[in-house]
Amino acid sequence: MICLSPHKLPMKTPLFVQLYQPQAACVRQELLRGLTHNGQAGAAWIAPKFLYDALGSRLFDAITELPEYYPTRTEADIVRVHGHAIARSVPSHATLIDLGAGNCAKAARLFDSLLPRRYVAVDISVDYLREALDQLQRRYPTLDMLGVGQDFSHTLALPAEVGAPADGPKVFFYPGSSIGNFTPDQALAFLRQVHAVCAQSSGSGLLIGVDLLKDAAELEAAYDDALGVTAAFNRNLLVHVNRLCGSDFLLPDWVHLARFNSELSRVDMHVQARRAVRVQWSGGERHFAQGECVHTESSYKWTVAGFSALLQQAGFSVPTVWTDADTPEQGRFAVMWAHA
Ligand code: AVJ
Repeated sequence: MICLSPHKLPMKTPLFVQLYQPQAACVRQELLRGLTHNGQAGAAWIAPKFLYDALGSRLFDAITELPEYYPTRTEADIVRVHGHAIARSVPSHATLIDLGAGNCAKAARLFDSLLPRRYVAVDISVDYLREALDQLQRRYPTLDMLGVGQDFSHTLALPAEVGAPADGPKVFFYPGSSIGNFTPDQALAFLRQVHAVCAQSSGSGLLIGVDLLKDAAELEAAYDDALGVTAAFNRNLLVHVNRLCGSDFLLPDWVHLARFNSELSRVDMHVQARRAVRVQWSGGERHFAQGECVHTESSYKWTVAGFSALLQQAGFSVPTVWTDADTPEQGRFAVMWAHA
């Protein structure tokens, strides 16, 4: 039974759509290809998305609480301190599309200032979104909510329920410096896809969080914390790969490495073999020499000028930039708004 009090509208219910259907065989093939040869002189490679199984996602949440890992809290501070300015730049009553929404907490903090007409949470699996959206709906009973399971790093194709161009502006929200996992070429291609959607309805744009280039020691500490949570997060990927491929990586054989590569302006994470090891799976194997690495993640660090140029190359306007410092280039993290 629906209870209607005289002054209240009935609570809406979130809608869920799963578009991405991972094929176990393809995932296994992709993983084993990276493990055996990826063209780069035989260096083994596993994509960072495999860091996020159930335990990996919890370990990442723990990382965001670490004293060394500044991005999450710096971004939250920027959004809090500059909330009014952000709300003056970003259109209200828009369709807010949250890319990599997870627990939806970052976007939810914008609701009261941006007053979205519809909230679209996108993540690889709708199952991650159900609980968060159901809870959020209780706090915002009249907001249209849609959960979409999509691998948006491959395609930005979204269901029709997201709304036609005539339904008003779309605000894409891509926080957390997740863009850092893309190479500059991939980032440009991704931004062009977002721009193409934004160009369809006037006022649309992108609100994005970008981690900034800084001192190597500070960067390396953020990716190799004293407590060892990032090490656990990185090494847990091997457990996940074992489960997906039936491989037999042994955790005691592998150590966590995080190094800043200044030429490429990125932090690289690897797992490194402590001794010579043989890893086997049904139908194959690979030998690793002592000290040999599997590359697991790159996290690119941008300058404000460099990322502004990238946005404009993708077709966006000169961005409005908020950072945690008086002059943008001195900031540790930047939040940028660019319209189509
Ligand atoms: C979620 C990709 C933004 O690169 O900082 C944290 C992931 N890796 N510690 C990042 C991560 C190691 C994070 N991103």
